[in-house]
Amino acid sequence: MRVGAVILAAGQGTRLRSTLPKVLHPLAGRPMVLYAIDAVRGLTDLPPVLVVGHGADAVRRAVGEEVVYVEQREQKGTGHAVLQARDTLRGRADLVLVTYADMPLLRPETLRRLVDRQQENAGPLTLLTLIADDPRGFGRVVRDESGAIVAIVEEATATPEQLAIRELNAGVYCFDAEWLWSHVDRIPLSLPKREHYLTDLVGMAAAEGLPVRGVPVEDPTEALGINTRVHLAEAEAALRRRINRQWMEAGVTMVDPETTYIEVDVRIGRDTVIWPNTVLRGRTVIGERCQIGPNSLIEDSTIGDGCRVLASVVEGAVMEEGSDIGPFSHLRPGARVGAGAHVGNFGEIKNATLGPRAKMGHFSYLGDAEVGAEANIGAGTITCNFDGKRKHRTEIGERAFIGSGTMLVAPVRVGREAVIGAGSVVTRDVPDGALAYGVPARVKKRNVRDGGAEVGGRNR
Ligand code: UD1
Ligand code: CA
Repeated sequence: MRVGAVILAAGQGTRLRSTLPKVLHPLAGRPMVLYAIDAVRGLTDLPPVLVVGHGADAVRRAVGEEVVYVEQREQKGTGHAVLQARDTLRGRADLVLVTYADMPLLRPETLRRLVDRQQENAGPLTLLTLIADDPRGFGRVVRDESGAIVAIVEEATATPEQLAIRELNAGVYCFDAEWLWSHVDRIPLSLPKREHYLTDLVGMAAAEGLPVRGVPVEDPTEALGINTRVHLAEAEAALRRRINRQWMEAGVTMVDPETTYIEVDVRIGRDTVIWPNTVLRGRTVIGERCQIGPNSLIEDSTIGDGCRVLASVVEGAVMEEGSDIGPFSHLRPGARVGAGAHVGNFGEIKNATLGPRAKMGHFSYLGDAEVGAEANIGAGTITCNFDGKRKHRTEIGERAFIGSGTMLVAPVRVGREAVIGAGSVVTRDVPDGALAYGVPARVKKRNVRDGGAEVGGRNR
């Protein structure tokens, strides 16, 4: 059996009160429409057909080329939306899955069950149902005395008795393709919204004496359809629980999963411990045996094995194995903290490398800089990288010792094993092994570590 998929994403999402099309609102860092596309991907060899309308260009940009687009120019209802896919899919699939792009928690396993049930069904469609005390505005599943499904009624047109029904239409269907294509253009207009409801196909099938099957959803969160910002928060919470559970099952410890926020594309190694109030975003990869948080934000960064991030912000940065940062420090894009290096309190690094085992303990800024292995950056050291117009680089050699409160006025180079006295303003290069200090800094000894000769008060 060839399976095709239609995903409806043309609606405006009025109830979100947003300028962003509903299906582009992100959940766990990814626009919700992408979840709907992922869910159907394994079930069909054909590219899914995405029905777009409201905000179509923005949706196209966000989704890219992995789907076939059809446009629904006017949003005349879910039935009318499916009709737009007919020319694309007719004759290419025997079964057609229809889902809504506002159901980000739907799982592929559930769609698989729906397809399997429809294959056994003599009738034209099988739909996903749920039983819930809060009907959330969903369509009600109406059954006759024999228990057969005879209609879906929308809240807007339901009688008081029908409103009391707690079996709901989740909004996911598997159709016999030919029956769908020969009926979808015959759905009558429904008042008061003047829409063609896809759900009316259920009543049409029943009127033809054909059986409609219902498959109950196993996990009710899968049926969370997002119409309002409150639903958005509910779905985010459900997704968060799902993601966190998956990482805990994979060997990550979460001290408090309720306050641990991990986006879908993040990867985490075994025996890493995540402390409360930690947000992991974007394409972040975290190694094994790390201690992350509490109170940290890591975005688009790579953290090696055995690292520690305490109450800090790490964006677009790399921390190599065994390095640590925090509390209260900030790695900005292009920062690289070498293996075993230490960034302590109130440090900021941007577009700069701190070499292996180098230390920067307190109140420092490194921008556009390269610091060699085992260098020591004293408290309050600043790279003055910006002259008002352009950025300049600072280089600090291996095992150099930069005294507290040093200003390094870039472009400037401090040599290997050089020593800069506290409070210096370094405006010229300092050779390897030299001692320099003062404002502006002068070289005082050529080879300080060997007890080398003094330079009689003059710079070279
Ligand atoms: C729909 C179902 C309802 C079900 C509920 C589950 C219908 C008539 N009702 O109601 O029975 O319980 O979902 O979540 O189908 N869309 C279009 N074009 C349109 C209208 C809608 O593409 O002209 C898209 C929307 O972008 C959305 C989806 O179809 O992704 C569902 O539309 P929505 O207005 O959210 O339907 P509900 O009122 O939630
Ligand atoms: Ca909806």
